[in-house]
Amino acid sequence: MNWLVNTLTSSIGKKLMMAVTGLCFCGFLAVHLIGNLTIYGGKEMFLGYVEHLHALGVLITLAEFGLIALALIHIITGLTLYLQNLKARPIRYNTYKSAGGRTIGSATMPYTGILIILFVLLHLLTFRFVDKTNTNDFQILVTTFSQFGSVLIYIVAVIIAAIHVSHGLWSGFQTLGLSHPKYMPIIMGLSVVFAVIVGVGFGFIPIYVSLIA
Ligand code: HEM
Repeated sequence: MNWLVNTLTSSIGKKLMMAVTGLCFCGFLAVHLIGNLTIYGGKEMFLGYVEHLHALGVLITLAEFGLIALALIHIITGLTLYLQNLKARPIRYNTYKSAGGRTIGSATMPYTGILIILFVLLHLLTFRFVDKTNTNDFQILVTTFSQFGSVLIYIVAVIIAAIHVSHGLWSGFQTLGLSHPKYMPIIMGLSVVFAVIVGVGFGFIPIYVSLIA
């Protein structure tokens, strides 16, 4: 058991945990986006999707606890690594430097990460932890995105999420050992494609809903 604790608290262990939890979040984003696309099928289709989701009962509760655990590990480990790098400033550049060099994504990871946490808290307060006795998810969407400020916040937030993912995804694969010079450009390219899909896919929803509201 000691070896497990030692591995997980070592620098590489923390990076591994960041990679695994980050990749799980990318999976969540993909599933969440696919589900949200039902909005384009209209109110009934979107509410049907939400109903199906809630009908999963205990499975969805388990998934939610899983998400909370992943978030806590990702955030605490990320902050620890960030503070460690700050302390070791002279070697900071070397520890951050990666096969792809510095990009806007890699240079801003801690800041985009913190902004994503703030967005997710706001998002959960709007859509998840809200009394739905006299309303439903579609109505909340329409009410939220009939306000220009909310549309703007969501668009900025998903662009920030896309920037975070554009670096995080390939960097996670690299940490897990997928860093062959031949395949790295492909993995980096696919990560950027995924980030664009996340940005455009999520970002267009508030615009669309504001137009039909
Ligand atoms: C336009 C974009 C988005 C829309 C319309 C949207 C919509 C929703 C809705 C309706 C729910 C509540 C589902 C329920 O009733 O249980 C939800 C939950 C959630 N969303 Fe989003 N979402 C968007 C973007 C995002 C983004 C970018 C993230 C992450 C960065 C995110 C993270 C979450 C999380 C963590 C939950 C809670 C999941 C759960 O409790 O099962 N969402 N979203």
